[in-house]
Formats: sequence, C-alpha cells, structure tokens
Amino acid sequence: MNLTLNIWRQSGPSDKGEMRTYPVSDISEDMSFLEMLDVLNEELNAKGEEPIAFDHDCREGICGSCGLMISGQAHGPEVTTTCQLHMRSFSDGDEITVEPWRADAFPVIKDLVVDRGSFDRIIQAGGFISANTGSAPEAHSVPVPKPAADRSFMAAACIGCGACVAACPNASGMLFMGAKITHLGEMPQGQPERDARVVQMVNTHDEEGFGGCTNVGACAEACPKEIPLDVINQLNQDLRRALTHGR
Ligand code: SF4
Ligand code: FES
Repeated sequence: MNLTLNIWRQSGPSDKGEMRTYPVSDISEDMSFLEMLDVLNEELNAKGEEPIAFDHDCREGICGSCGLMISGQAHGPEVTTTCQLHMRSFSDGDEITVEPWRADAFPVIKDLVVDRGSFDRIIQAGGFISANTGSAPEAHSVPVPKPAADRSFMAAACIGCGACVAACPNASGMLFMGAKITHLGEMPQGQPERDARVVQMVNTHDEEGFGGCTNVGACAEACPKEIPLDVINQLNQDLRRALTHGR
C-alpha cells in the first residue's frame, strides 16, 4: 500500500519542531508500524537525510519503549503497542499523523523520542519491596489467596509505556501508578512499605508535572495491557488509608 505520513520532527529538546510530510510506498500489510518506519528511514538514509528518531527495544510488546501518538490515538487504532500494531490496520492511500507522547512530564528528546525518566523516578520513590534477595523461598511458606495473586499479576502486566498519560487530557500518570500500587499491595511482601509507598509515589508524580485524575477513563481505553480503571480506586483507597493511619 502507499501512504502519506505526517511526522513530527524536532532536532532536540530546545527546537520548536514541526510536522513534515513523507510519502511511503510498497508497504506490506504484514509489516509492523515500526518496520514501516524502518523502510522510511532506509529511504531517508539513502538520500543522505536525517532519519526519524523513534524509541523501541523488544518489538514484542514487553518493554514499553515504543509509544507513539498515531493519528491522535496512543499506539494507534488497535489495543496494543506500536511495535505490535500491523499495517493491515490501515488502508491504501491513508494519511497518518505520527507524533511523540505529549505531556509536560515526558519532554521530547528528539523527533518521536520522549524522556520517560519521570516514570522511573516514581518507581524509585516507592515501587519496590524490602524482601530479602538471594535464593527463592519455598513457595508455600507465604500463602497468597488466589484472587489476590491473580489481581497482582494483572496489575504487574503494566509495561510503563506511558500511553495512559498521553491519552489523558490531564496527562495524569495515575493508571500507571495505580497498577504498581495494586501489583505490590495485593501481596504479603508488599505490606511493610504500603503506606509510605503510596505517599511517596503520589508526591513524586505531582512533582514531576503529571496531572490529577478526573475519571475520564481515556487511560484505560488506551492501555495496551488492559489495566482497568479500578486500580486508580485502589490507589486512592491506599492513599486515604496511609494519610489517616493511626488516627
Ligand atoms: S497502565 Fe497501561 S498505558 Fe499506562 S504505562 Fe502501564 S501499560 Fe502503559
Ligand atoms: S518495542 Fe518493546 S513494547 Fe514495543
């Protein structure tokens, strides 16, 4: 298929950036969206032009690094990551707009690459447990109810891609943070730091410039791992519990 791509180009963090138009031809519907961008970059390289910078690593929907805003939708028209989005989701002759995540907390580094270090700093603030390292303990020494294990596992599927932030009109990181709070808070090993975790993570989230949740729900719709909105309820419950603990 032949396509017209309108792509955000920005040479560095202080450049104001602009949209530029690139035609691409002979794109197979079996290519991933990133492979289609690879084809364009090979053409730009051959012409001696600067290739388009975009982030990626695993290309298997695991690492969360490949986020792009595609025609106004985080990761494009399917509920998946950009690397797992295939060109069969588009039609011959389509015009596609490709932009980086837009959020103050995710500043653009170059072209389509943003700095998601703010997510790392939220994790550093509280997204961990103090269980001993070393060899794995006997699994039955700490019984975990099956519903709690399942809910923890569901929340642990968050890959930190940032689509929830990009989709949210408030650029809130609360779905991401709620996933981490739920993942750790459902398990016995997550209890010692439970109160401090939520307070420190929320404080860091706010300091990093993310917005607050107003229950729009765009985050959960955009999430490639289908993290449900109710993890934000869990986050709010844990925060209320932490702030009133001992009173
Ligand atoms: S909650 Fe979903 S959209 Fe947000 S960072 Fe995690 S995987 Fe990505
Ligand atoms: S490149 Fe790893 S999730 Fe897309």
